[in-house]
Amino acid sequence: MKRVLVTGGAGFIGSNFIRYALQQYPDWEMVNFDKLTYAGNLANLRDVEDHPNYRFVRGDISDQTLVDYLFQTEAFDTVINFAAESHVDRSILDATPFIQTNVQGVQVLLQCAQRLWMDRQALKPEFEHARFIQISTDEVYGTLKDGYFSDTSPLQPNSPYAASKASGDLLCRAFFQTYHFPVIITRACNNYGPYQFPEKLIPLMIYRALNNQSLPVYGDGTNVREWLHVEDHCRAIDLVQEKGELGEVYNIGSSQEMRNIQVVELILDKLNKPASLIEFVKDRLGHDHRYALDWSKLDKLGYQPRYDFQQHGLPSTIDWYLQNESWVEGVTTSEYQSYYQLQYAGVKS
Ligand code: NAD
Ligand code: DAU
Repeated sequence: MKRVLVTGGAGFIGSNFIRYALQQYPDWEMVNFDKLTYAGNLANLRDVEDHPNYRFVRGDISDQTLVDYLFQTEAFDTVINFAAESHVDRSILDATPFIQTNVQGVQVLLQCAQRLWMDRQALKPEFEHARFIQISTDEVYGTLKDGYFSDTSPLQPNSPYAASKASGDLLCRAFFQTYHFPVIITRACNNYGPYQFPEKLIPLMIYRALNNQSLPVYGDGTNVREWLHVEDHCRAIDLVQEKGELGEVYNIGSSQEMRNIQVVELILDKLNKPASLIEFVKDRLGHDHRYALDWSKLDKLGYQPRYDFQQHGLPSTIDWYLQNESWVEGVTTSEYQSYYQLQYAGVKS
């Protein structure tokens, strides 16, 4: 039996992971600790909220008193840290919450786990299998022209979001080097799938196309992203928590690269909407050109993504948004509309 703290479990990837783990591991007791920012949504977990092995606690990972209390009372032996401010555009508007959650929050979690699990540099016997999984991103490596990022590529973050995630990763590394703290870092490429908040490229374009609104493509649309279905990401995280080596970094890729404009065209095609909805707008500041991962280390652990982006992953994701209109209505609030106005005002090229 494991006592698992999932932070940020009301967000996109965290909620998918909780649903996956409840099916996979009947012997895990899971606490979902989430601040419920604009991106946190308990409706993402409606179908599992009464599961006997699942509980929700509202709170902020940078609140040391609360987090320490939670560790001491719940005696977690596994932490999977999804909690983060996750949207690059918002970090360009204001980096403050990114530093608080993605840097200070990570430090608080590490310290509270260390206090519970360790005696100097040694794990206490009852926590000898303890693991802290830091969910990070390929964006910490910066941008690519050719080739791939390996897990030893230098960290060259270009956005405030990426810099905050890189800082969190470096704290994790330092805890491993200094205290032999049992941490593993994962760095995944762009995720897509059910329950993604419609500020990110794919759900934003689906939502706007369905409403016959213009689709704002940054720059010339030739930026390349590597697309990973969220269920494949969840399986990879599971593999890492089970078989990964302490102190290591695991890139989680899919090898399915695509230009943004191609992604947008596929969405329009599937929804039978005209290409005239596409509007090329001013580029994102500091826009990374391409991300692509060498994930051979994960391959060696036995991982293979199951979703083909074009054949199955993207069409089934579009179907999910079509079938879950009330979920979309619930998240496209007046606050969401105000964010859209603020972010996209003045971006017309
Ligand atoms: P998300 O924005 O959908 O969800 C983030 C969740 O964290 C929300 O539920 C939010 O309420 C919660 N949260 C934010 N600040 C918090 C705080 N201070 N304390 C407690 N909870 C807090 O994000 P996501 O897309 O699901 O990403 C999850 C993690 O995966 C992040 O760490 C992100 O950096 C990483 N990641 C995301 C992607 C992607 O493509 N979405 C790819 C690679 C890595
Ligand atoms: O690579 C992993 C990262 O992927 C995660 O760490 C981040 O949390 C996640 O948000 C994502 O970052 P991106 O910046 O790549 O994702 P986003 O969906 O914001 O943008 C994808 C691409 O689409 C990017 O090149 C910018 C472009 N784009 C995005 C939006 C929102 C547009 O052209 N128009 C838009 O309106």
